[in-house]
Amino acid sequence: MRPFFYFISYIMESFNELITKRRSTRKFTAKELTQDEVVILLKAALKAPASKRSNPWQFVLVDDKELLRQLAFCKEQSAQFIADAALAVVVMADPLASDVWIEDAAIAAIYLQLQAEDMGLGSCWVQVRERYTATGMASDEYVHGLLDIPLQLQVLCIIAIGHKEAERRPFDESNLQWEKIHLNKYSYPKETRHECGEGKQ
Ligand SMILES: Cc1cc2nc3c(=O)[nH]c(=O)nc-3n(C[C@H](O)[C@H](O)[C@H](O)COP(=O)(O)O)c2cc1C
Repeated sequence: MRPFFYFISYIMESFNELITKRRSTRKFTAKELTQDEVVILLKAALKAPASKRSNPWQFVLVDDKELLRQLAFCKEQSAQFIADAALAVVVMADPLASDVWIEDAAIAAIYLQLQAEDMGLGSCWVQVRERYTATGMASDEYVHGLLDIPLQLQVLCIIAIGHKEAERRPFDESNLQWEKIHLNKYSYPKETRHECGEGKQ
């Protein structure tokens, strides 16, 4: 029998591989998702942690081709690929149910993306909150109208999901921004130290 730590190291390795491989996919094949795949994706979203377990999120699944085509106009740019996705998950939350609804909904959205990657599917986040359509309408309002979403819900984003047309290059670990990491206290770049009163002799 394998020791317990074997399984821990296996799990940790595979998560690291997952987040290294995950890149935004904006080109999808025409292959549909199976019902089982959709259920696995949704289970991941519903397992997302939320402040005080308030679970303020709601999700609308869009797989209707005409609705996907119209959803692609929710923003002036960077949303066209929704039209070719097999599934678009509209991630919403109720601000009255949680004062940190944005965080709660964002975590559920990234859970969806990571679950998609784990299944070999591609996905891309399409920002809706604080964005506008080509005609200047709030993207949130456009999506509300298109999908009959109740007024009390706010739309954070849409996660477009489908089979990848091509595999993208994984993260290049040699480009990680280590300068963003600070040990114990914030470390200012050398050139600004003097202005901050640091480094004076
Ligand atoms: C909050 C947020 C908003 C984003 N909005 C969009 C978007 O509207 N359209 C889009 O094509 N990609 C969007 N993305 C995807 C980013 O452009 C992408 O994650 C980033 O460029 C890094 O690339 P990678 O995901 O391939 O690592 C968004 C990502 C995040 C986290």
